[in-house]
Order: sequence, then C-alpha cells, then structure tokens
Amino acid sequence: MPKQEARTWPEDTCVTDPSPSLIDRLQAAASAAREQAHAPYSKFKVGAAVLDEQSRIFAGCNVENAAYPLGTCAEAVALGAMVVSGGKTCSHVLVIGGDGDLSPCGGCRQRIAELCGPDCIVYAVAADGTALKEWKMADLLPNAFSFDR
Ligand code: THU
Repeated sequence: MPKQEARTWPEDTCVTDPSPSLIDRLQAAASAAREQAHAPYSKFKVGAAVLDEQSRIFAGCNVENAAYPLGTCAEAVALGAMVVSGGKTCSHVLVIGGDGDLSPCGGCRQRIAELCGPDCIVYAVAADGTALKEWKMADLLPNAFSFDR
C-alpha cells in the first residue's frame, strides 16, 4: 500500500468515526484487487472491498469486455464474491481508483442497495491512497428500487 497522507473527513462527507484499521483493511483488499483489474479499454482500474455480516472482507476489480456493455464493475465482482461465500449483507464498502473523484456508479449504487444493511457506509479513495471520502449509502441512493421497502 502506498504511503498515505493524514486522513481528513470533510464535514459534508463525514458520517462516522470509523475504526482506521477497518478502513485500512478494506483499502488493502481493494487495492490488491485493483491490481488485477482487466481494463484494457478504459485503462481505468478500480478495486472494491465489502465487509459482510460475518466481518469478512471480499474484494473485486473491474473486468471489461471487448463488447463494452458486458464489462463488470469492481463492486459487482466484490458483492458476487460475498454472495457466493454465503454473505447476506454488507455494512461497509470501499472503492479505490482514479485521482480523487471516484464514487460508485449508479448501477453499483443499486447493486449495493440490494445487499447492504440500513446503515451501510461507502468509502472512496484515490488510486494513490489519498482523498478518502465517505457517504451513507442511503444518501448515495435515496429511495432505491426494492420489492421490500
Ligand atoms: N467502474 C467500476 O468498476 N466501478 C464504478 O463504480 C465506476 C466505474 C469501472 C467500469 C469500467 O471498467 C471503468 O471503471 C471505467 O468506467
């Protein structure tokens, strides 16, 4: 993991006082996954990590395809890994990539909403480990489509 500058939580995105070690673990997993990204078309590598209800971390990377719409986002791969391992809900999601403007795409917000607990927190960090941001999932996708809610 690259050396990190001191973290700050800007007031408009600060929603928790999380354990730094949890964020570090999520970031390490997401960063390692990002290294495996298959992104020959966009050249934009993304990694994601999710924490499930059993305190397990699952990671994923984006997997692009020459038939562009078939590409898969990092969050989808991480959530799929959680599901296939029996995970039911995630409480924390971290995505890593870009230079500080990354946030989950609209489709991934819906994917996370399907599989997250009510207080899920989403973090985003630049590829170099700087520019940590965080949001409540409910703020990223208010009124998410659901058959239950
Ligand atoms: N991407 C993700 O993996 N997650 C996101 O939330 C945003 C976008 C990927 C998809 C594509 O492979 C690349 O980033 C450029 O859009």
